[in-house]
Order: sequence, then C-alpha cells, then structure tokens
Amino acid sequence: MDFKTAVANEILAALKAAFGEVEIPPADIAAALEIPPDTAMGDYAFPCFKLSKALRKSPMMIADALAGAIHADFLGKVESVKGYLNFFIDRAIYAEKVIGLALEQGERYGADDSGAGKTVVLDYSSINIAKRFHIGHLSTTMIGNSLVRLHRFFGWNTVGVNHLGDWGTQFGKMIAAYKRWGDHDAVAAGGVDEMVKLYVRFNAEAEQNPALNDEGRAWFKKIEDGDPEALEIFNWFKAVTLKDAERVYDMLNVKFDSYAGESFYNDKMQPVIDALKEKGLLVEDQGAQIVDLTDYGMPPALILRSDGATLYMTRDLAAAKYRKDTYDFDKSLYVVAYQQDLHFRQLFKVLELMGYDWASKCEHVSFGMVSFGGESLSTRKGTVVYLDDLLTQAVEKARAIIDEKSPDLENKDEVARQVGIGAVVFFDLYNNRIKDIDFTWERALNFDGETGPYVQYTHARACSVLRKAGDVDRSAPDFAALSDPFSQDVVRLIEQFPDILKSAVNRSEPSMVTRFSVDLAQAFNKFYYENKVMVDDPGTRAARLMLTDAVRQTLKQALYLIGVEAPERM
Ligand code: ARG
Repeated sequence: MDFKTAVANEILAALKAAFGEVEIPPADIAAALEIPPDTAMGDYAFPCFKLSKALRKSPMMIADALAGAIHADFLGKVESVKGYLNFFIDRAIYAEKVIGLALEQGERYGADDSGAGKTVVLDYSSINIAKRFHIGHLSTTMIGNSLVRLHRFFGWNTVGVNHLGDWGTQFGKMIAAYKRWGDHDAVAAGGVDEMVKLYVRFNAEAEQNPALNDEGRAWFKKIEDGDPEALEIFNWFKAVTLKDAERVYDMLNVKFDSYAGESFYNDKMQPVIDALKEKGLLVEDQGAQIVDLTDYGMPPALILRSDGATLYMTRDLAAAKYRKDTYDFDKSLYVVAYQQDLHFRQLFKVLELMGYDWASKCEHVSFGMVSFGGESLSTRKGTVVYLDDLLTQAVEKARAIIDEKSPDLENKDEVARQVGIGAVVFFDLYNNRIKDIDFTWERALNFDGETGPYVQYTHARACSVLRKAGDVDRSAPDFAALSDPFSQDVVRLIEQFPDILKSAVNRSEPSMVTRFSVDLAQAFNKFYYENKVMVDDPGTRAARLMLTDAVRQTLKQALYLIGVEAPERM
C-alpha cells in the first residue's frame, strides 16, 4: 500500500464531495503533500492555500470542509489546522502494511526491475601496474563495488572494468632496470615492492648516468613494437602486480568483469584519431595534435604528442568508444578522484563534438581524498598508507576488541575479518563522496559511533533476539502493539528504504545507504531499549518479533549493498 497515493485519492474524493467537480490531476495533489517536520503534526500535510483562489474560499474553510468529508479506515485522524489538512495514518495499519510488505518481499524488499534490459559499465579501482595498491584507491574500489551491487539490485546488467594503468615510458625504464640488476626470484617473491625498488634505483642512477634513460626509451619502444622479450617481461610485471592486488580484492570481496587497461587500446586508437581528423577537430599546436576546447572554457585536449606518442586522453577516447561498441551501455560511469574532473569534462566534450550522442550517458563519479589523522600507520615508507597494511591492521584491532568484548565467540577470526574490513569500508562510504575523508581508528572502529561495527552489532543483536525466540508462534500479530513512537520510528525508516535505494542509484551515492543503516540501527536500539520483545502477550510478541525480523533483513541488505558483511553473532 502506498500511503501517499492513498491520501491523495482521499483528498480528491473529498474535494469533489465538498465542492463539486474540480479539475486537479491526482499526481498534483500527491506532489503537494508535505511530510511535517514533527510527527505530532501528522504523517502527511496538505496545504490548502493554492486552492483558495479557484474555490473562492479561505484556506481554513477548505481545510475544515475536507476534514469533515474524509473518513477512511487507514486514517486514524484528519485535522484541519490553520489552512493545513493534517493526516495521521492509523498506526497499527501503517505498521502492518510496511512490515508485512518488507517480510513478504524478503531479500527483494526495496528492489524493482527498473534496470531490466539495461547495461551500465562501471570503471572503478583502475590501479596502476608496478605500484602498490595504496589508500588512494580505496574509495574508487568501494564506491564502484557498491554501485555495481546497487545497479544489480535494480536489475541492471553490470560490466565492471578495471582500467589498468599499464602504459607509459616508466615501463621501459623498469625493464631496463630489471635487465641490469634484476633477479627473477626476487621479483617473484617480493612482488610490487621489488619492482618499485628497481624503478627507484633506475631513476637515482640515471641522474649520474643519463644514458640509462636512452636505454629505458629503447625498451619502451620495444614494448610498443611488440618485441617478444620486452612483452614477456612487461606481461610478467603485470601478472605480479595483479597477483598482489588480487589479495586486496579478495579481502574486500570485489570482482571485475574486465581488466582491459590502457595498453589494451594500443591498436584501437588510430580509428579514433582518424575520426577526429575527418571531423576537422584535430589541430596542430607546437607540433602536437590537440582538440581546441576554448569555446567551452577548457584547456585543449592533448591527443598526440609532437613525437607521435598517444596520451591518457587518446586511450580514454578509444576506451569509451570500445565500451559503447562492445557493451552498448545505457550508462557509463567513471569512478575516479576529483583531481581528474577536468580530464573527464574534456573527454565527454570531445566525444560529444565527435557526434556521439551517447556522450551524455557518460558520467564522472567524482570523490574526495582520504587522509589520516591520529595514529600513523607502520609502513616501510613512512607516510604512504598501503591498503593491505591498513586492512590487516583493521582486522587485528577488531580481533583485540572482540577478544575483550566477546571472549566466548566461536569463530573469532572470521568475525574479526568481517568487522575490521567492514569498519574501513563503512567509514569510506559514510560521507557524501565528494567530501574529503580523515580516517582515524578511533572513529572507524567505535562500536557505539556511527560506524560499521555499530550497525553490524545491531544486526547481530536482532539475529540474537530472533534466535532466542526460536519458533515461537507469530501467526496472530497485534500491530496495535507497534503504535508507540519508538516502534513507529523503525517502521517509518523501513518504509523509506526503497526510496533511499532509488536515490542512491540515481545519484551514484552509496553514502545514502550507509547513513540509512545508521539511522535504522539507532532507531531499532531505541525501540529495543524501550520495548521488551519476549512479552507474554502472544500478539504483541509476534508483532515485535516481526519488526525485529524486518530490521534484521533490512540492515543486512543495506550492508551488502555497500559491500560490508553482516555476521550473525559478534
Ligand atoms: N589509473 C588511473 C589512476 O590511478 C585511473 C584510471 C581511471 N579510468 C579511466 N578510464 N581513465 O589515476
């Protein structure tokens, strides 16, 4: 039951009864309905001021007349107050409808199939080869992961792309360094760290001996030309980096459908360059080829360097076209930090100038920076925070808290993993994505704050209540027992869940789900504090258990959608 529509229908019928034929579309009435800031003023309010002119009556008189004409079972009370018509939904019916629907739809509660038959491509995480997965890549990974889950929930077909940074002259230098000083077993064992060491040494020695740079360039040329030895080493570097990254992805439970990175587009850029030429968009500027964007208030997009080399932009143009041709997307999202705002504005503008109408379906999902306050992290390199170190520490810290709080818990390691990693992910997705984040352990792991552990703990509490109740009879719930303000607050939040999810998808904003989960957890804890669940009265008990079950299910779903696990015991 959609209460808003039902209220609008009642108003329309009352208008006709009291004032004869009135020409107002029902949707306009629904749109005019307000949600009063305080539930003491009702669940919905209808302002009668706009009707005043057409009906030639004062708003107060209209509200009085309508209040007298409305009698519906689902409405506990209708009041006329100063030109407003205030509607109070019958508390028991409200609880019955909302909780009933949530439990009936189960895991699909809040979902619809608005995305069925549609495809969204999501470019996220997109790490760089031969670099360690550092904290800067946490937000793109987790926002992207959440957006994948949210879109799937609404029936979209999703394509997750890890657009690897696997192109550039630095890879030639790395091969040169490896050929001079490298050791196969050391790189295989040391992974990315070992590759970084080689690269650092190369740059240090090249300062004394500039000829090294020529060597690096020569190796890069070999990669470009497809020289077998160069490619073998380069591909091996990639495999080693990905193996390291895979550990982190496993911890976070994040997956991709494609790892087509920058180098994948080596042979796909010429057609794009040709198309740019054909459309007269390419102009020469000091030997380089650019697209002039002065008319759009942006610096030029660089397409070819003066030595003919392609750029990040060139590859992104080819990638966008490839994604359209391959996946025929309805939406293409790029989850990339705000430092690249200009790059994506340029990219989308050039696509538009090329005449691709699908350019409007591309969207940059921008986000702020993560920094660290409080305790510094013990990494070999001082200030740089590596993601696997952070996650490992989070799990250790969670383990210590669990040892203290729940010494008898059975699967402590597993729960510590879920809580520690959940705390980091939750913290990352708690604020509006464009805000910068300052991470501290105290705030991320606080079991009483607005945190992952708090929501997980509340979910586990609901599980525990239901477990203890066992198969107690729930067949004759008395929903009037959910009329108190604490139960009603919980019911109202559960009713809002579907709308919250829709907004989160439409705005690419997982934090709406994160925030919601805290609101619901807080409301449930208040309810639980005020109301005993396992009372003697079977109707009250059944209703409270059903509410608890709906909370359990909704919290679990909300956490899943932001990529956080929900242990049943903590
Ligand atoms: N590898 C890039 C970086 O770490 C992000 C790539 C984003 N995706 C893209 N299609 N440009 O900054």
